[in-house]
Amino acid sequence: MARPKPLTFVSDPRKAGVFKKNPIPSFFWPGSCYKAGAVLPTDGLFFMTKTIGILTSGGDAPGMNPAIRAVARTAAQYDCRVVGISNGYDGIFDGLTEELSHRSLSAIIDRGGTMLQSSRCKRMYTPEGIDHARKRLQELGIQGLVVIGGDGSLTGARELSKRGMPVVGIPASIDNDLAGTEMAIGVDTATNTIMQLIDRIRDTARSHRRCFLIEVMGRNSGYLALTTAISSGASVAVVPEYRYNMDRIISMLHNRYQEARDNSIVMLAEGVCGANAFMERMEAAVPGGKFEQEIRISVLGHVQRGGIPTHFDRMLGARFGELAVTGLLQQETGCMTALSKGRTTLIDLDQVIGKKKHPAPELMRLARNLKIEFGDTVEL
Ligand code: F6P
Repeated sequence: MARPKPLTFVSDPRKAGVFKKNPIPSFFWPGSCYKAGAVLPTDGLFFMTKTIGILTSGGDAPGMNPAIRAVARTAAQYDCRVVGISNGYDGIFDGLTEELSHRSLSAIIDRGGTMLQSSRCKRMYTPEGIDHARKRLQELGIQGLVVIGGDGSLTGARELSKRGMPVVGIPASIDNDLAGTEMAIGVDTATNTIMQLIDRIRDTARSHRRCFLIEVMGRNSGYLALTTAISSGASVAVVPEYRYNMDRIISMLHNRYQEARDNSIVMLAEGVCGANAFMERMEAAVPGGKFEQEIRISVLGHVQRGGIPTHFDRMLGARFGELAVTGLLQQETGCMTALSKGRTTLIDLDQVIGKKKHPAPELMRLARNLKIEFGDTVEL
């Protein structure tokens, strides 16, 4: 296999000739962090993006606000205006724009949700709609765009970039289902929230010697269910990526009850089915149709998406926001900020959209070795 080309990194786009004041790149620092294989031009032909638009789209995620803040502050360093587009892609069509000032950005770093508000915009589902959005961006005077969101939002970003709009995406979704990045913004806060909620549920479970079936979000991904099963000491994780084995789940719960364990937790990813449906399947598999132990259901719901962003999510938001702007200033487009082996980089959206993110093998091994029942090792 061909070795990847070395990375080239310009530490400061200002030094790299973004501005006419410093037209020629003075030096490159080797060995860091732009898109794998991308060698930045050396002839000083960097364009200057004067007005950058920013929007958040799809499900909100804690850490979006720190990312918005980092985009605006970094852009200001390079004398660019930043225009906030409200309500996701809908705001492009409806002209919901406002220049982001220091005042509007104050006191948002510690807030969950998104100050720009969000939507799942149906008008971006058709090629004609995307063409229209591209035209509207031009009319709004936006020369570069940062899109913060999940899979659907970044699909829109890729389409706009194919139509000549410079766009850099930032992955943000509590589901952690985007290929190409180890983490998306919001995942750390959501997993911490879920873990703390399970700790509380366990208090009451222990007191009554009960089993709890806990349904968590994640859309088609089992990441939230699997990792919080590990961090909260659950007995079972039912995830969409692997075929569950009901006989083993029932026997695990039976054995724990017989051993007089004071609680059992079953984590269920919503991508498998709803908790009530899973409960019915469990009961159907028990001899006599009735468990010896009381089981209660808890569906955590949207509480998982809110809350104060953790240190990790604030840092990730800051790192991704800064990189998105410096990337745009260096003519990067059609790409997404990503975390790879702990470092930030840019990756083509073609390598992200439509790609399935498989659970890391070491995570599955860890769950197995910690005796968490998560099914057969047959990937679905
Ligand atoms: O993608 C984030 C997510 O929270 C999923 O985990 C969940 O399935 C979905 O959004 C819920 O969407 P909504 O907020 O539209 O109900």
